[in-house]
Amino acid sequence: MSKLIDRFGRHIDYLRLSLTDRCDLRCSYCMPKGFRDFEEPEHWLTFDELERLIGIFARIGVGRVRITGGEPLLRRNLPELAGRLSALPGLRDLSLSTNATQLDRHADALKQAGISRINVSLDSLKAERFAKICGRDSYSKVMSGLLAAKSAGFAPIKINMVAMKGENDDEIDNMVEFCHEHGFILRLIEAMPMGDTGRNTQYLDLQPIADRLKHKYGLIEHSTPLGAGPARYLGSADGQFNVGFITPISQHFCATCNRVRLSVDGTLYMCLGQEERYEFRPLLRGGARDAEIEAAIRDAIELKPERHEFREQPLKLVRFMSMTGG
Ligand code: 5AD
Ligand code: SF4
Repeated sequence: MSKLIDRFGRHIDYLRLSLTDRCDLRCSYCMPKGFRDFEEPEHWLTFDELERLIGIFARIGVGRVRITGGEPLLRRNLPELAGRLSALPGLRDLSLSTNATQLDRHADALKQAGISRINVSLDSLKAERFAKICGRDSYSKVMSGLLAAKSAGFAPIKINMVAMKGENDDEIDNMVEFCHEHGFILRLIEAMPMGDTGRNTQYLDLQPIADRLKHKYGLIEHSTPLGAGPARYLGSADGQFNVGFITPISQHFCATCNRVRLSVDGTLYMCLGQEERYEFRPLLRGGARDAEIEAAIRDAIELKPERHEFREQPLKLVRFMSMTGG
């Protein structure tokens, strides 16, 4: 079966799957305040539909899937779905991104269901500031979720911190030390102008931060890339600690983009920063055969744009991150 290659020669082998647009937090750069207008569950793809569609993706080389949201642990029976997806032929790697507020209850079941790797969003190590940034007083829940993930045996565990000027940039060094102590991989992320929420967040150029951390902690650049995504990593000489920098704004990485995103209603988004999309729900519910769905995936990939334009057109995108899962 031939691989999925787009018009710009990029091999698409990674799918981010948003299983809900709901979230129990209200991070200032993501969810609009008072946001309630959630999509109705009838529009959500069922587990059967998801298993079938992801199975077709996996057969044509999309072997890595990350479950996202919104907050994916709010989707009922998530471990059951994870188990069904991880059993699909061709699926090599199933991972999860979560805010960890409910991870203490689910960590073991998710591990058993075949989720190999886990990323946790954490923007502050101060409970009060966490509540200010994420709109809910959930810091201690997140901490117990993280510890539960550690004892369930997830490795590596990555911590994603959106670095925001004047909000949490004074905590970057604390976060480095916290992650080092716990054996977590830290990733610092530049805030993207998504919807009105991300737009109001002051983005922080991470290049100078990387230089500073390099000197302070004696970190070195990796000769071989760590991970298959866009993060560029610095590591300690003994290999015990790594910090990644995800710099969509100061240094975009669209030329090596390997991914597409499926939202909970079955829309495939071709780029985080553009509108190109393809609807799979009508095909799935209209009796399409597998071969037709495969052909539709190939048509969709043809639509993938060359790059985002967050810098040139910061007002363009009205979608919120919780729809497409970062
Ligand atoms: N910019 C960058 N990352 C974002 N996320 C959500 N909104 C944004 C944004 N505007 C990402 C963060 C967060 C995860 C849930 O989604 O990584 O940790
Ligand atoms: Fe929820 Fe993640 Fe958005 Fe925060 S960034 S509101 S945790 S979906």
